[in-house]
Amino acid sequence: MHVLVTGGGGYIGLELCRQLLERGDSVRVVDRFFFGEAPLRTLAKQSAGRLTYVAGDVRAFDDAWLDGIDAVSHLAGLSNDPTAEYNPDANWQMNAIATERLAEAAKRRAVARFVFGSSASLYDGIGPGMFDERTDVRPRGAYSISKKYGEDALRRLTDAAFAPTILRQGTVYGWSPRMRFDLVVNTFLKDAITVGKLYLHGGGWQWRPLVDVGDVARAHIVCLDAPLDAVRGEIFNVMQENYQVRQLAMLVAGSLSLKGRHVTLEEAPLPKLVRDYRMSNQKLTERLGFTPAVTVLESIDLMLQRLPLDDVGWLANPRWYNIAWMSLLEEVHSAQRPFASIY
Ligand SMILES: NC(=O)c1ccc[n+]([C@@H]2O[C@H](COP(=O)([O-])OP(=O)(O)OC[C@H]3O[C@@H](n4cnc5c(N)ncnc54)[C@H](O)[C@@H]3O)[C@@H](O)[C@H]2O)c1
Repeated sequence: MHVLVTGGGGYIGLELCRQLLERGDSVRVVDRFFFGEAPLRTLAKQSAGRLTYVAGDVRAFDDAWLDGIDAVSHLAGLSNDPTAEYNPDANWQMNAIATERLAEAAKRRAVARFVFGSSASLYDGIGPGMFDERTDVRPRGAYSISKKYGEDALRRLTDAAFAPTILRQGTVYGWSPRMRFDLVVNTFLKDAITVGKLYLHGGGWQWRPLVDVGDVARAHIVCLDAPLDAVRGEIFNVMQENYQVRQLAMLVAGSLSLKGRHVTLEEAPLPKLVRDYRMSNQKLTERLGFTPAVTVLESIDLMLQRLPLDDVGWLANPRWYNIAWMSLLEEVHSAQRPFASIY
């Protein structure tokens, strides 16, 4: 299969490209490379010509990017609440409108398979409960509202010739060659290593559905391989388990104590934006026979093997923290080109 992966230079995208190449597929990546292209370049070198990439913006989609493509995994865009709130207009153009345009282009070019990396944050704000794909979601932030628009556009375009699939991905953890340390487990791990202290906002009682980065990539591949009728216009929640934030802190602290490092947990006030929701992954298991299996503990263990534990400078690099990096890029860019934006 020849797969177009948008956002293939990102945290999930790189792992998806790696898995696709490993099983013999060819991959074309389109990415703005906000966080650099070095890890993708390395992967391309190892791919014997099966991975190519274009530095491009999905807002200015070029139909030629679909030449020879059998399927699309769409991961490009602003990937969390803080970056979306920082520039809501750019977020809307990237996450909502570009998703719709990209799907229209795929449909025009008879590329029926299209997997969209949506977000479990659509379930936030509904109240307590265990939510599934039939839940009436009412997103309230710029990020989740734009993801919902993308989902609705894909479902509107669905027909006999176009079979898009929506994956509501839980909060991701785990190792990728392009790390993110702004995701709860990864943040805890970085803080535990660098400062030995974890803060539990409001006691850390909030629920979050979580999933390993390798399992998210596998979910995309399961959808790319599934019979079209099993995935046509369908939404699937993707998560390994629902956890309370305080459980995650304990798992991180415990894993580090096995390495001889002392980590303390401290209570902190609740921030303005609190996300708290649970979801079920039963549909993914029952319909597609896939259940994310890599646990938080297994993933922490792998990260502890791969991260440069004694290199605090590397771990604290703003490049691994999306809003910190985007703010920095914006600052440098606007100093060079006043009134222009990196977004
Ligand atoms: N990581 C998570 O916990 C999580 C959870 C749910 C959903 N998602 C979604 O999955 C997708 C991938 O997330 P990630 O964690 O890999 O994020 P990421 O920020 O690491 O990767 C996103 C990639 O998209 C690229 N990009 C951004 N805007 C672009 C544009 N306009 N044109 C082309 N490329 C652009 C970036 O350069 C980056 O390489 C995102 O759509 C995100 O919203 C992520």
